[in-house]
Amino acid sequence: MKQILNETNVDYAKECFKEAIDLGINFKIHQKVKKRNFDKNMLNKLLEIPTTSSEPLKVVKEFKKEILPYCTNFSDVKFMGFPDAGNSIGGISGALISDLLQQNLINSSFCAPIATFTEIAVVKWLREIIGYKVKPIKNIWDVGGIITYGGTGSNATAMLLARENHNKKTMTNGVNNPKDYKVIIPKGIGHYSIKSSLMWIGCGDNVIEVETEGFKYNLSKLKEALIENKGKIMSVVVYVGDSRTMTIENLTDVYNLVKSIDSNIWLHADACHGFSLAFSKKLKNKIKGIELYDSISTDPHKVLAIPYCISALLVKNTEKLKLITSTSDLIMQEDFAYGQITPFIGSKSWVSLKLWFAMKSLGVEGIGKMIEKRCDIATYLKEQIIKNDKFVLLNEVNINSVVFMYIGNNINDVEYLNNLNLKIYNYLLDEGKYYLHKFSLPDDKGIIKKDATLIPLRYMSGNNNITEKDIDEMLRHIVKVARKVENE
Ligand SMILES: Cc1ncc(COP(=O)(O)O)c(C=O)c1O
Repeated sequence: MKQILNETNVDYAKECFKEAIDLGINFKIHQKVKKRNFDKNMLNKLLEIPTTSSEPLKVVKEFKKEILPYCTNFSDVKFMGFPDAGNSIGGISGALISDLLQQNLINSSFCAPIATFTEIAVVKWLREIIGYKVKPIKNIWDVGGIITYGGTGSNATAMLLARENHNKKTMTNGVNNPKDYKVIIPKGIGHYSIKSSLMWIGCGDNVIEVETEGFKYNLSKLKEALIENKGKIMSVVVYVGDSRTMTIENLTDVYNLVKSIDSNIWLHADACHGFSLAFSKKLKNKIKGIELYDSISTDPHKVLAIPYCISALLVKNTEKLKLITSTSDLIMQEDFAYGQITPFIGSKSWVSLKLWFAMKSLGVEGIGKMIEKRCDIATYLKEQIIKNDKFVLLNEVNINSVVFMYIGNNINDVEYLNNLNLKIYNYLLDEGKYYLHKFSLPDDKGIIKKDATLIPLRYMSGNNNITEKDIDEMLRHIVKVARKVENE
């Protein structure tokens, strides 16, 4: 039998795994952003249930022919819409090894003895880099962080902590009046995970959106909201690199303002992207003040070239994780069973091994250099856009996001420009050569028209292989596409 690994089929298994690895590497290196567009008519064939057996190697080969050409290559230098390049050799090694070793971090003593401690090490490294204190670790409640499967999970857990911190009996009693569990977020630039997680944890849709200026809180509006809702706010969320523009909040000012009005409010920093700056001596200063926050979400799978999925939620006061501890006789009640402090997660694979490998192989300094390079490339693009009167720049470029619109000769007609940039986006998507992202964005500084909703294009990359030449070629391509679609 070739399906289940044992001593009799080791050579066959190796052949199969080699084919899988070759497929993956060739995909990352040679496939353009996308080779083929998925046609919905293919769906019926895909949905057919396989009733008879097939050799794994045959399945890999079938996958290569039938499925792979439709995959998007985040590692291609022309994929310029998101930073999740996933091409760290150390990170990929960790991913492969973690899948082969099948450790389950729900418990420590019998199912993940060493894995638990390498995970604790990874959390400790992140705490150190970000500037949180590290204390001697005697049990899981001294660690001050958990590994989750993504920023959404980390943010949801932070909101759960905020809820319990606001009203300690909520875990057992439930939420009585959701309107007493409000959360403040910046208007128009928040990531959906905060609002959604509040709905998932029974706090309802009670976010207060406060006006921004240059994609940071307008501090006097924030103060008004805090005073008006005093006693009913459980958390204020800031972005250390918001999903659209990568703007970094005025971290110390927001912290001082919020804590001066209500010291019990849980301050959460969504630094899924921005924590990466902490690796660089040169850039670290940009996120000064982050260490004051009660919790911090980080997303190594987005910004450290590590394959999906891994996120870490760091908690300043390690003891606070007791607020959301679950006990059950199905999770070992032992000092280091991580399952006691990982809400929403049961069995948990050794995802932190990817980060362990990436950090061991690049070191903090190597990662710092990688982050500096990506910020330099984004700055280069910013400069090219400023020089070119066919484009307008919409953000300050703090990290690696460059938000811009093609304006041709027209600057004032928002509807026309939104339409044109949407046409460029759709053309690129269909063509499969480049990927730039798009979204809606409030024009809070009036660069095109004050408070209008814009639909710009967005470059954002974490791919260490992108060069200035790639940036020049991309801009030339956009101008060509714009001319083509302008009169359609
Ligand atoms: C600022 C921010 N927070 C949270 C998330 C959610 O992260 P994930 O997709 O890893 O769940 C994202 C995703 O883009 C993000 O940009």
